[in-house]
Amino acid sequence: MDRDEQKVLLKEAQEAAMLGSKLTDQLLTFARRRHMDAQVIQINDQLVGITDMLRRTLGEHVMLSTSLARNVWATRADTGQFQSAIVNMAVNARDAMPEGGKLVIETRNIELDGDHADFHPELRPGQYVQLSISDTGSGMAPDVRDRVFEPFFTTKEKGRGTGLGLAMVYGFVKQSGGHVTIYSEVGHGTTCNLYFPRVDGIAPRQSARDKGTTDPEARETILIVEDDERVRQLTITRLKLIGYQVLEASDGPKALDLLAKGHPVDLVFTDLVMPGGMSGREVAARARQLRPGIKVLLTSGYAEELVHGDSLERERLKVLRKPYHQADLVTALREILATSAV
Ligand SMILES: Nc1ncnc2c1ncn2[C@@H]1O[C@H](COP(=O)(O)OP(=O)(O)OP(=O)(O)O)[C@@H](O)[C@H]1O
Ligand SMILES: [Mg+2]
Repeated sequence: MDRDEQKVLLKEAQEAAMLGSKLTDQLLTFARRRHMDAQVIQINDQLVGITDMLRRTLGEHVMLSTSLARNVWATRADTGQFQSAIVNMAVNARDAMPEGGKLVIETRNIELDGDHADFHPELRPGQYVQLSISDTGSGMAPDVRDRVFEPFFTTKEKGRGTGLGLAMVYGFVKQSGGHVTIYSEVGHGTTCNLYFPRVDGIAPRQSARDKGTTDPEARETILIVEDDERVRQLTITRLKLIGYQVLEASDGPKALDLLAKGHPVDLVFTDLVMPGGMSGREVAARARQLRPGIKVLLTSGYAEELVHGDSLERERLKVLRKPYHQADLVTALREILATSAV
């Protein structure tokens, strides 16, 4: 063995050792055995602190933008692990956008009561800071999305991914008393939503829960278009609870079919992004052609910025962001139904 060969071998051994220690580190985190140095943190400050590093990580083809709500509540977490969780998700987003794209980081305060639309039984009612990371990348099919938190689950080629990134994110968020959900559509992109409990957060007031969950004026018929069976059934229950008549369709073409057949519909409530071609926007445009004067409400789990383009305003389309409160649904529907036909 000559010196060069020795060097190569040494380098490989060093890399293996480094990878090994990184692996152990990440394994321990999601195994919840690692000591967490949790302290009170301001998530916005943490994000601002790593923006430059994120920009470098993402490269010049990915545009990073942030939309940080003011007065975001304090939470408790380990700062080192918080930052590596963000970096892990940013790297995933970059890998999903080989041709470039957009990455949006958002924060907001959110109060979850028993009936939020993105029903997550793991999340106890209470006050949380929601941190969303959205990309305009390849997205994931449902069978991939369902497995991403599994340790060692990866779709990347050997040597590129360990499959521990999101497992580590999951472990860290759980350890911080929070929760993480993933919303993704093939060909459109992905949103990771992290929920961190507010420090000394209080349980939602009873009044907030009871406020405006029904509408005595509701008698119109709403056509709901939603591809996810579970979400659709949940929403139907909520709409009926408010007092509406409900018709359902699992995709755009089926919805338009119902309209073409002359079913009475006052408002179409549709997901903005649906697999299988037709978007909520298209459904809206065609529904308006079929039935001039019909009202439309869109809903989406994506970052505001990625869906709230000027063009939506031009098309006079409102978007209700998921997850939403029953009271938000009541208000949004009433507002739109009360406007005169456009
Ligand atoms: N933003 C995203 N867009 C599309 N697919 C994603 C995204 N984030 C994760 N995935 C999918 O989830 C899988 C698991 O992600 P995870 O971060 O846990 O592991 P990895 O990126 O493959 O490897 P590692 O992060 O350990 O280097 C990825 O291989 C990819 O298929
Ligand atoms: Mg990863």
